[in-house]
Amino acid sequence: LKADIVLSPDFVVAPVRRRLFGSFVEHMGRCVYSGIHEPGHPTADEDGFRGDVLALTRELGVSLVRYPGGNFVSGYRWEDGVGPDRPVRRDLAWRGIETNAVGIDEFARWARKADAEVMYAVNLGTRGVAEALDVHEYMNHPGGTLLSDLRRANGTADPHGVRLWCLGNELDGPWQTGHKTAHEYGRLAAETARALRQAEPGLELVACGSSHSGMPTFGAWEATVLELTYDLVDHISCHAYYEPLDGDVDSFLASAVDMDHFIDSVVATADAVGARLRSDKRIGLSFDEWNVWYQSRFQADPPTEWRTAPRLIEDVYDVLDAVVVGNLLISLLRHSDRVAAACQAQLVNVIAPIRTEPGGPAWRQTTFHPFALTSRLARGQVLRTEVTSPVYPTARYGNVPVVDAVATHEPATGEVVVFAVNRHRIEPVELRATVPGATSVSEAWTVHDPDTSATNTRANPDRVVPRHQSAELSDDTLRTVLAPVSWTAIRLG
Ligand code: AHR
Repeated sequence: LKADIVLSPDFVVAPVRRRLFGSFVEHMGRCVYSGIHEPGHPTADEDGFRGDVLALTRELGVSLVRYPGGNFVSGYRWEDGVGPDRPVRRDLAWRGIETNAVGIDEFARWARKADAEVMYAVNLGTRGVAEALDVHEYMNHPGGTLLSDLRRANGTADPHGVRLWCLGNELDGPWQTGHKTAHEYGRLAAETARALRQAEPGLELVACGSSHSGMPTFGAWEATVLELTYDLVDHISCHAYYEPLDGDVDSFLASAVDMDHFIDSVVATADAVGARLRSDKRIGLSFDEWNVWYQSRFQADPPTEWRTAPRLIEDVYDVLDAVVVGNLLISLLRHSDRVAAACQAQLVNVIAPIRTEPGGPAWRQTTFHPFALTSRLARGQVLRTEVTSPVYPTARYGNVPVVDAVATHEPATGEVVVFAVNRHRIEPVELRATVPGATSVSEAWTVHDPDTSATNTRANPDRVVPRHQSAELSDDTLRTVLAPVSWTAIRLG
């Protein structure tokens, strides 16, 4: 098979937004406890944070971390997690027993150490405007008020300065504590946004979109919520998880086709609301939960006992999953004109690129690698990238291109980076890319293995690592062969 890419540094989609390389830490399973936080671990620092996980988080290139949930946030009382007294509570979302040993002050400290921005989600499930204002006062008000002085008394003199706030989580879902209709949620989100802006006009606010594009209210939910919040919020959220359904690997490999369509649909819906309101404002998308998640396994085995930090949805990812993750990042980059932020869900242990053992090692899952490489290499501007590719048939999406790709260009250095996947299960693809002005191949990596079910484990943590990709450049033309089921990144000088 053969495919061609045409691009030009003159055709720019948008700047590469660093917030695209976000992640998510929820009080769920072992993401927080024995994930980022484990006092007594051999690598733990003075705050009880695992040093090995912090190092891997920085290596992953995470720019932003959403916290504290997720479904968890819809029953969360932020004040349980500050100060010396930490009550133990039930978490209805995951049948957890929450010790509250980690709360917002600890998390903000951890995020600073990880060089990542905090994205904070307020509880609009069991709570409302007053509690959102309270947590904002605690986190962002400089001092001289009850709650800002409480923060200072608890050891954080400077405000946390969180700019990006989620107005609740997945309130369209009947599983959500405090589930609401679009109208109920839209009104609550509008009033919460108005109050938060009175407190601090410069905040960036994210309204909840649909929990996934298969929700019966998908589209109608976004339209109603945005009609009620259009002038008050900046972004609407999208959530999507992918897995091979009924063993349909061909469709799974084309998951980014669904993500493309999802993004285009939400953009169209938001712009239609804007047109009706005669507004020039454009709503951004916050794709604040996305990943591969073998949800069918979880649904077959949901938690029944109340437990603290149980092993919950600790999916082990293989090469196939890593290629899909790399392709989802291509889709997000391609939509940088409208996707303002994105968070891979989650960071550690819970459907995560980083795995840990309590008291033991931390290691990189296969999915770590395309994320880390994309975060490191995507710089400057995203280029419109035209791909001519053969297609292959899928049960879910019809005929889809075998090759998908996107490129970035750094004007300061002239460097171009091409990110490409071969979704074909058997055939390699000879790829030719015309890159005006390119003079050399600076580095080229691929995530591929003849055994697509290969995984990284505690016993063999580096079974799957990026390997050097052979690539040639002559007369502005890059030539390389994409192996079947592979993700590749090539940096050109
Ligand atoms: O990331 C796991 C869960 O998936 C989140 O808590 C929820 O928001 C979503 O349904």
